[in-house]
Amino acid sequence: MGAEIHVHRHDPIDQIDPTVYGHFAEHLGRCIYGGIWVGDDDRVPTEDGIRMDTVDLLQDLDMPVLRWPGGCFADDYHWEDGVGPREERPTRRNMFWTQGRQDIPEEPNTFGTNEFVRLCEMLDTEPYLAVNVGNGSPSEAADWAEYCNYDGDTELANRREEHGVAAPHDVTYWGVGNENWGCGGRLSPEEYAEQYRRYATYLRSFNGMMSDAEMELISVGHISEDWNRRFLDALAECSEWVESPYELMEHMSVHRYYEAGGDTEFDDEEYYRLLARSRLVAQDIDDAVETLSVFAPDHDISIVVDEWGVWHPEAKNTNGLEQANTVRDAISAAGVFDDFHARADVVSMANIAQTVNVLQCLVQTDEDSAWPTPTYQVFDLYRDHMGATSLETVVDAETETVEDEPVDVPLVSASASEQDGEVFVTLSNRALDGSEAVEIHTDLDDASVVESAVLFDDQEVSEHSTDDTADTFEADDIGVENHGDGTVVVDAPASSVVSVTLE
Ligand code: AHR
Repeated sequence: MGAEIHVHRHDPIDQIDPTVYGHFAEHLGRCIYGGIWVGDDDRVPTEDGIRMDTVDLLQDLDMPVLRWPGGCFADDYHWEDGVGPREERPTRRNMFWTQGRQDIPEEPNTFGTNEFVRLCEMLDTEPYLAVNVGNGSPSEAADWAEYCNYDGDTELANRREEHGVAAPHDVTYWGVGNENWGCGGRLSPEEYAEQYRRYATYLRSFNGMMSDAEMELISVGHISEDWNRRFLDALAECSEWVESPYELMEHMSVHRYYEAGGDTEFDDEEYYRLLARSRLVAQDIDDAVETLSVFAPDHDISIVVDEWGVWHPEAKNTNGLEQANTVRDAISAAGVFDDFHARADVVSMANIAQTVNVLQCLVQTDEDSAWPTPTYQVFDLYRDHMGATSLETVVDAETETVEDEPVDVPLVSASASEQDGEVFVTLSNRALDGSEAVEIHTDLDDASVVESAVLFDDQEVSEHSTDDTADTFEADDIGVENHGDGTVVVDAPASSVVSVTLE
């Protein structure tokens, strides 16, 4: 039996915020140091200490937003260590990523706020900063905001200018801590609510000070509904000065990682298990939205999935959370994007963990080259969804049931969006065996196929890219049968990802 995809152009969901295609780069292993920042090392072309082979690859993705400096790192990071003359910056031990370890290099602070914003400028991407709640203070966070965003004649604004940056950075996105239920201080939801109110109050004082936007605050949510409920409940306890304490946040975050089997060693059941587990991202979003609708029904608080992806057992603290990134991982990412698109009305940002070398990275590097992973290719193929209007998409396909997993795996995943008169459909045939004749039904009259492409036609699901093989993972053209009445049929190879653009 073939699968069917029904795209309802008259049921638009919402605009897919481009920031759903966001990234996350932490001071961890070789993500920043080695992967992005190489300083004076001349084995690769650099600009201002930043390696340009990594930048070139990322530039091609039109990355919309980059979260930094962590992760757990953020809750032991003191931003003033990372500004000013580099030779005067202190070397520190990061409490989280060096815990109990002598072999992890200390944090040299050579890559700090201005280097990060310089990277964002090169990538034409929005910076997203996570402030230190764990062992920082509201005053330290507010000082960081003043240093970055204030255009007046204060010591901090002048200090930024002395550091060579005259115009404010105008950073819009500010995360109030990171996983403060865990590495960020092991706070209870009630304790975090108290901290959140304090931090948000001081960060809010910058409203009206940026040239063309307001700062947007992101609270730490959880995949545990109990945490979210207790946090939102406790937040309501103090409403002095604001009509509602929920005005203190624009977004609430959730994080989700998943694994099944090893990075390259897994059996068929583990292949499907990973796909089943990747569907939990959608479940987390739905749960968080449901809780927000109970506590803050009149507030437009959206969900930011600011860490998501595959975390294989091979990625350990001892190897800087490095793992092989295979076609299986990339196929799971395609399904997660389909789920984000279906929730375009409630998901305002997502940041895959992490951009370079760490976990489900998009770019891997060695000392003299950088290359894209299979997951990079999915970001590239899906790029036309950014900023487009997500369309209700119904998939009729067989499913695979995996023992003990709460959700089944539809063997075809899909989403569709519309922009400038073109309908863009992405789908994956997740079956391990056999191509699938997928009928795509739209209500376009006389649809013509503008473009169609396929990923991973020639690869096994356990394959990962190397510097030598990366280009073989790029998209190829694929033929599409056009019925001329708004219906097209594509023969999607086993374990592949396909895109079709119609007009
Ligand atoms: O991405 C690696 C780590 O995973 C982050 O530092 C933390 O936020 C999460 O637990």
